[in-house]
Amino acid sequence: MEQKIPAHIAIIMDGNGRWAKKRGLPRTAGHKKGAETIRKIAIACNQKGVQALSVYAFSTENWKRPEEEVDYLCKLPRFFFNRYMEELKQNNIRVRFLGEIERFPIDTQNVILSAVEQTSENTGLILCLAVNYGGRREITLAARAYAQDVLNQKADLAIEEEAFGKYMMTADMPDVDLMIRTSGELRLSNFMLWQNAYSEFLFTDVAWPDFDVVQLNKAIDEYTARDRRFGGLK
Ligand code: FPP
Repeated sequence: MEQKIPAHIAIIMDGNGRWAKKRGLPRTAGHKKGAETIRKIAIACNQKGVQALSVYAFSTENWKRPEEEVDYLCKLPRFFFNRYMEELKQNNIRVRFLGEIERFPIDTQNVILSAVEQTSENTGLILCLAVNYGGRREITLAARAYAQDVLNQKADLAIEEEAFGKYMMTADMPDVDLMIRTSGELRLSNFMLWQNAYSEFLFTDVAWPDFDVVQLNKAIDEYTARDRRFGGLK
């Protein structure tokens, strides 16, 4: 069957810690390998014509992890972009982010902002990093901004779904079509609550560091076979 390509794929990249532990490595080694997987999957998605790939790299709850692990995760964007920026550019990939990056060390913020800026003219895949991101927080911030615009008479008090959606961090991106979570957990964990309203969920036991193009193709094959009705009949 010819693959139906999702416009937007969102991934909860779970299992880095368990992957590392199984190999007698520190959890951080799993995160590093996980960052390499992002590169592989982004390039493959771009080649397939996916419009956007959103990856959950750091949740608003991840601050509760040990300091050493948080520090490492904060350093990963520098490692990632130092190593892969040229390749991302060659592939016409555009980097964006979701989340409140102000809470990160200034160096991490600058690395992310610079990646966004350097790729802003690109027209291929949008690679969207969710960092210090939480779905409820996103909706709360959108409500706050909307309320402010009502006060300023820039928005209608009779709030409409489409108008409100424009206050989300993904404003000009398509809704998520396919949501993948790796490593056997069956939860949404506060990831893109608004955007996942009608997405197809796919769970795999494969840990994120082991996820590859074969797994991606399997996920898209499964998505292709699903019957999406959006609440209607067919
Ligand atoms: C979940 O696995 C993974 C994370 C909390 C972090 C994911 C981050 C990356 C893959 C790298 C991000 C890179 C860039 C460039 C932003 P876990 O640690 O919860 O694994 P476990 O459930 O096995 O313990």
